[in-house]
Amino acid sequence: MKQTLLILAVLAGTTVGRAQNKKTMDKNTIGQKVENLLSKMTLEEKVGQMNQYNGFWDVTGPSPKEGNAALKYEHLRKGWVGSMLTVRGVKEVKAVQKIAVEESRLGIPLIIGFDVIHGYKTLSPIPLAEAASWDMEAIQNSAKVAASEAAASGINWTFGPNVDISRDARWGRVMEGAGEDPFLGSKVAEARVKGFQGNDLASPLTIAACAKHFAAYGFAEAGRDYNTVDISNATLYNTVLPPFKTAKEAGVRTFMNSFNILNGVPATGSSFLQREILKGKWGFDGFIITDWASIREMVAHGFAKDGAEAAEKAVEAGADMDMESHLYIAELVKLVKEGKVSEKLIDDAVRRILRVKHELGLFDNPYKYCDEKREKEIIGSKANNDAVLDMAKKSIVLLKNEGNLLPLKKNGQKIALIGALAADKNSPLGSWRIASDDNTAVSVLEGMQQYKGNTLVYEKGADLTTGKTTFLDELVFNTTDRSGFEAAKSAAKNADVVVMVLGEHGFQSGEGRSRTNLDLPGLQQELLEEVYKVNPNIVLVLNNGRPLALPWAAENIPAIVEAWHLGTQAGNAVAQVLYGDYNPSGKLPMSFPRNVGQVPIYYNQHSTGRPVNSDNNVFWSHYMDVEKTPLFAFGHGLSYTTFKYGEPKLGKKVYAKGEPVKIAVNVTNTGNYDGKEVVQLYIRDIAASLSRPVKELKGFELVSLKKGETKTVTFTLTDKELGFYNNEGEYLVEPGIFKVFTGTSSDNVQEAEFELK
Ligand code: BGC
Repeated sequence: MKQTLLILAVLAGTTVGRAQNKKTMDKNTIGQKVENLLSKMTLEEKVGQMNQYNGFWDVTGPSPKEGNAALKYEHLRKGWVGSMLTVRGVKEVKAVQKIAVEESRLGIPLIIGFDVIHGYKTLSPIPLAEAASWDMEAIQNSAKVAASEAAASGINWTFGPNVDISRDARWGRVMEGAGEDPFLGSKVAEARVKGFQGNDLASPLTIAACAKHFAAYGFAEAGRDYNTVDISNATLYNTVLPPFKTAKEAGVRTFMNSFNILNGVPATGSSFLQREILKGKWGFDGFIITDWASIREMVAHGFAKDGAEAAEKAVEAGADMDMESHLYIAELVKLVKEGKVSEKLIDDAVRRILRVKHELGLFDNPYKYCDEKREKEIIGSKANNDAVLDMAKKSIVLLKNEGNLLPLKKNGQKIALIGALAADKNSPLGSWRIASDDNTAVSVLEGMQQYKGNTLVYEKGADLTTGKTTFLDELVFNTTDRSGFEAAKSAAKNADVVVMVLGEHGFQSGEGRSRTNLDLPGLQQELLEEVYKVNPNIVLVLNNGRPLALPWAAENIPAIVEAWHLGTQAGNAVAQVLYGDYNPSGKLPMSFPRNVGQVPIYYNQHSTGRPVNSDNNVFWSHYMDVEKTPLFAFGHGLSYTTFKYGEPKLGKKVYAKGEPVKIAVNVTNTGNYDGKEVVQLYIRDIAASLSRPVKELKGFELVSLKKGETKTVTFTLTDKELGFYNNEGEYLVEPGIFKVFTGTSSDNVQEAEFELK
């Protein structure tokens, strides 16, 4: 027996050894091929590889005037373009690839980038919603589906995942990330990178991923997009960087830098971020793309006097490819010839870009992503629709369910469905859906119509917006038309249960969509209160891309379902949850404030010196007008069943440094439904050389529990979870007392304690 095991182990070792050898060999051959090609390239051609142009239609940012199509074609022919973005569809991709490969001197293939943020054509929930599932397998699969659709459309690189941590719901791009927590954010980053890239980057079903926006873009002051970021290095290392580091460790092949300045230096011109940390300490050997025109924007930031200086600073700082500033192509050759930029820096950037193109298999077959048959088969398939429906159900969070109003009875009920968003087939598609057709989501109305046992009456109540609702337009919410209120109220009066779908339009969060109010826009709050007067039996279904502040609803409305922007299958997912065909298990990845004045609000805050009202006077850390706790805490989310937690049990009271700390907790399903629960583990390092947060998530597990079933969930804490970074970027694990907390949300836990010696 022992011998067999030994042989197996040796064989396994040889296989691993062989696989590693193959990897190194592949790398070497790629390395050799890259060097060989590089030696043939003119300086202009090298700089060309560092130049990325937008395609000829969809624009996702302000375009430079000189960005006309004729010039782009000319540059493609000269081999002065390394990549294009937002070109999509086999026909279109083939057309530009053909010019690069067949008409340019060296025939270097383009890498084709696209914002595959939450699905390609078949849309999954917005990333913040997916993060609410806390289900890494589902998130990985969702990214895999998105990658396969994008790849089938000729694309081989996504500008995702967005791994920006943010604590500010005013910032519209919180919809693109995984919320406020670096631990959850890191797990999600890893799942998405693995989902997009798979095990084989050269497969025609996978695409290269891009961790963005490097770094600290989510900390924009006042939540205003593109705004200044000023944070300590400790916050940078402990909160902002972990998901990026995890993405790197998961093998992400590209990074995108960011628009913001960080402590005075634009991220695009930051050597500290790009050269010292990413390419230096972390040893990242893929390439960095700038964000849209972010090199040029360094002039507006007051960091470069003109475009030439901006290009010089960006390349020095380690930005390898220029997205739509058109400055590398305009300036770099001259800068090298003048001796201002070393050609070595150019070579390094080009090597990185060519390497990733090789890994994608583009040199073996530049048209490998361009198969019309595959395009027809994969995009919008039944399997993909099933996958996004599954993800959508898992993303829903039950915030409140007083008196078990939910799930709805399936027969003999009169249901009034109210709200413009209830019938909207466009808004659920969210903000990043360039490849999808408008009005292709299943609406909540359509989803609920599938349940025939009840009588369903729909009334809009009021329009949400008065202007255009597109990716490029500012949304206008100054609706004053209340003429639909009466019909809505009378439908409500005659109903057993009222379902109101309210919230933000899909284009109300996302890039450039910051808000100073986190309420229900337009007439929706008024409509809600009017309907409540005639029938308080209301299920409020929220559609939103960020935490909202809804104190009145939280106080008065018996059932609240957080349904975000759930993508193509939104309405089916919502209906299945409302009718109990799916028992929700989502948990909030971001704290919901009581009002906007509390923002930024996040659970892993530091303690003040006056955290509680010990002296019974005014001099403690609080607000005079509102409690300081959130309305709904990070990690909160209910189920149709109930769970009872035991106390966290530790093996010992004292652990030596380096010894794994094991924590066990019993969880029992005490309710009437089978269900799933995200069991959460937090820690607090009681006293350290830098003040540590009052709670930090360090483990979670999604467990399925049948009615009456108990499971023991075990967590292990190691140095990786117990330490922290100081302001110099050093990782420290300090002895002392630690608290551990286990429970159902960040504000509902039981605690235990141990000492690290
Ligand atoms: C965004 C990026 C995006 C790029 C290309 C920029 O405006 O910040 O996240 O990938 O446009 O569309």
